[in-house]
Amino acid sequence: MSEKKEAWGSRLGLILAMAGNSVGLGNFLRFPVQAVQNGGGTFIIPYLVCFLLMGIPLLWIEWSMGRFGGSKGHHSTPFILGSMGSGSLWKYVGVFGIFTNIAVAAYYCYIESWTLSYTFHSIRGTFTGLSQTEIAQYFSDYVNMTTDFLGVPNEAILFFVICILINTYILSKGLAGIEQVAKIGMPLLILFGIFLAIRGLSLGTTASSAEFPLANAWDGLNYLWTPQYDSLLKPGIWLAAAGQIFFTLSVGMGTIHCYAAYINSKEDIALNATSAGFTNEFVEVVLGSLIVVPIAAGYFGLDWVKENIGFGMAFQSMPFLFSQWGSFLAALAGIFWFGLLFFAGITSSLAMGTPWMGFMRDEFGWGRIKGALSFGFLTLCLGLPCVIFYKYGFFDQYDYWAGTVSLVIFALAETILFAWVFGIDRGWQEINEGADIIIPKIYKWIIKFVTPLLLIFVFLGAFFTPEGNNWADAFDLVFSGYGWPLDNSSLLMQINNSGLKETLAGSTDMKQVETIANQIFFANMARLFLLSLFIGIALLVYIAYRKRKNKS
Ligand code: PHE
Repeated sequence: MSEKKEAWGSRLGLILAMAGNSVGLGNFLRFPVQAVQNGGGTFIIPYLVCFLLMGIPLLWIEWSMGRFGGSKGHHSTPFILGSMGSGSLWKYVGVFGIFTNIAVAAYYCYIESWTLSYTFHSIRGTFTGLSQTEIAQYFSDYVNMTTDFLGVPNEAILFFVICILINTYILSKGLAGIEQVAKIGMPLLILFGIFLAIRGLSLGTTASSAEFPLANAWDGLNYLWTPQYDSLLKPGIWLAAAGQIFFTLSVGMGTIHCYAAYINSKEDIALNATSAGFTNEFVEVVLGSLIVVPIAAGYFGLDWVKENIGFGMAFQSMPFLFSQWGSFLAALAGIFWFGLLFFAGITSSLAMGTPWMGFMRDEFGWGRIKGALSFGFLTLCLGLPCVIFYKYGFFDQYDYWAGTVSLVIFALAETILFAWVFGIDRGWQEINEGADIIIPKIYKWIIKFVTPLLLIFVFLGAFFTPEGNNWADAFDLVFSGYGWPLDNSSLLMQINNSGLKETLAGSTDMKQVETIANQIFFANMARLFLLSLFIGIALLVYIAYRKRKNKS
């Protein structure tokens, strides 16, 4: 493939790369946590509705925006959006589509590096014979940076750097490299996932012990899969469901636009987008829910799972649970599980590198190697504080502002651009150009009205989350003149670090005071980093814009 004109090698390669972009740590780590924390069966209906009314439409919107921009020579959102709407504002909205990726990659690669390290340890048998408490302790030592690897200190940093190097190397090979990794990684991941899912399905009560006599893997599955209709009236659950749909499908990020920009302008996107989306959903709702939750419930019971769920559970408990299967199967399951997570992670983090590389190449003529190295350098600089100050919540700040809030803002803006500025008639034509399937016409109206309204609702909901997520009480209060009681998790209160400040005010223990003061400091620092990144990219967009203007 020449350096001049990059394109996907084959349709299969494109679908696998796009599915690899979506299928990620979100499917195996984030989904089960969100589902359990939001009441299992209460989560699933809002989740599926959000998939159909927001996820699928956004996939079509982003694929067609990307193909449209690509036909005009743009491979990243600033100028893709710029080419669809008039005025200079849209280019700057497009900054989100590069910014989010670099910021998310910075913390995402850190979790990816855990999976790499844990794969090695599963092969080496590090976890053999350790108790549940010891495994949990191992994880906390790891993130507090006291473990070493074969004598090299600071394993957490070591593996993080290795992970960035691997990503940089593959990215320097361009689309062909990404396609190659997806072609190997995706089938393996599905194979590993099916092996573990069968285990999750067949465990039943066989693993219950004297300590947890009632443990039953089926309780976990029933909890996730018995729909509860009362949730339909709880906005908090809708917010969580919408957030998960965004994260898992990688919409509102800019990666899909970028991948789609390398598609031929006459080629189908309707069917491709739908296939990639449904592949992601299969991996998420089928494989993602058949592993962590039922296996943990099979040994410790559902109540334990509900109390201990968190994405660390995959690292704090799974190695112990696998070790109950005898040393050979334990090693195999460990390699499958952490290997699966690694493949899921890397096909996503590679996608995050492409918008930056596409932008620097289109606008400043940077080749693949320069593009990949600069991306690696940026993620390293932004990611190292996540590794080092993990315990002060640096990581969580990135996840909230870049990995959650930015997605909704960007998705809302692009939907308005697509359906209202570019115009739904032209938009609909774009989606259907070269289509290999007939999309139900009702989606034209869904894209025009339902998707943006749902997005506005999600955004306002996150902005004004009321105390305890209790909307009914909040409306009562506001109508009786007492004002709106904001929750500390609402966007407005987060900006102000209200939750932390409250704990600080109520704390008398010196050590705790110090920790919280640090948390506030690092929360502000993390936001400062993110803001600087955003401004830096916006400046580059401005310079690129001036360059283009001078040329014409
Ligand atoms: N969708 C990926 C996941 O589920 C995350 C991701 C975000 C991928 C942004 C690409 C871009 O883990």
